[in-house]
Amino acid sequence: MSFLKIEDLSIDLGEFKLVDVNLKVKKGDYLTIIGPTGSGKSILLETIAGFHKPEKGKIFLEGEDITDLPPEKRNMSIVYQDYVLFPHKTVFDNIAYGLKKKIKDKEKITEEITQIAEVLDIAHLLHRKPDTLSGGEQQRTALARALVVKPKLLLMDEPFSALDVKTKENLRKLVKKAINEYETTVLHVTHDFDDVWGLANRIVVMKNGRILQEGSVNDVFYKPSINFVADFVGTNVLEGEILGKENGLTKVKVGNCILLSVDDGKGKVRLSIRPEDIIISKNPIETSTRNEFKCKVKEIKKMGNLMYLILDMDGIKLRCILTPNALYSLDIKEGDGVYAIIKATNVRIIG
Ligand SMILES: Nc1ncnc2c1ncn2[C@@H]1O[C@H](COP(=O)(O)OP(=O)(O)OP(=O)(O)O)[C@@H](O)[C@H]1O
Ligand SMILES: [Mg+2]
Repeated sequence: MSFLKIEDLSIDLGEFKLVDVNLKVKKGDYLTIIGPTGSGKSILLETIAGFHKPEKGKIFLEGEDITDLPPEKRNMSIVYQDYVLFPHKTVFDNIAYGLKKKIKDKEKITEEITQIAEVLDIAHLLHRKPDTLSGGEQQRTALARALVVKPKLLLMDEPFSALDVKTKENLRKLVKKAINEYETTVLHVTHDFDDVWGLANRIVVMKNGRILQEGSVNDVFYKPSINFVADFVGTNVLEGEILGKENGLTKVKVGNCILLSVDDGKGKVRLSIRPEDIIISKNPIETSTRNEFKCKVKEIKKMGNLMYLILDMDGIKLRCILTPNALYSLDIKEGDGVYAIIKATNVRIIG
């Protein structure tokens, strides 16, 4: 039995529709929901939380039909990008807010709050008011308030997006620790792939109110079902044809290039290569198990704290990623010739 099961869920909000959403989540899953802006990620989360009435479809939590339950009866907590803490209450009272509705024993309340405050490293802040806290501390408080009631589901809508890179990284570690300790099942909407790599075991990709692909992180990143998903997650997808085997590896013809893959396949196939799996070198490196191609750097773009390179590999467009430091030490400019080196284990045959 699925822990959370969404069946044929549709919602009509006038100008926006959520269409036939089907989703199964296991207990302990950490599911990230990604997709372009306006694709319905927040609406889906809010519907699971009970804020929108479905036009059709059902939501089950631990086998119980919760489709018509009011939000406060669903045993879920939601954390948003802005921290929505009560400004006049202390951190302790903020965290205690929902818990007091569940338990009356004051000692037990203090015990639970002390425990979550320790896990999230805010024990020293319990007497403070929210406006004296940093963004990261406020978000840890919001998380503590959400987790202390031991929700069946923790829903998070871009919880770290207002924070700087370092604070985000620290928060990811604390979230990981907290959800392990509390054995929480999480649905997390994000635009940041570091959240996906760092936290999730599953991903949902949405567009126009529909789920395009759902699967393990590896499946979605290495085996995107359609080109939109591939582009969205940055995976290079190439069309090719299998030529046969060579030393246990599969030879695939893509344009004028021949790539070697560890995967098996037949006939016409799609290949995937992750941008971070492409090694860039100014000089050729001779090894037997690797694919090595002379390319031209067409374009260099800064995206977040990484550099994206668009390479032209004999007419084939390849996206790859470097850190600004690596780009600087390689001394690469647009128009330069470079070698792209890809291990056969990183050339995946989608089928
Ligand atoms: N209450 C509402 N009534 C009608 N339309 C709405 C309502 N709330 C949101 N929408 C619309 O539904 C669409 C999906 O919104 P949603 O907030 O779920 O997008 P999102 O995927 O979370 O985007 P973002 O990444 O920008 O947060 C948007 O076009 C939005 O304008
Ligand atoms: Mg949103």
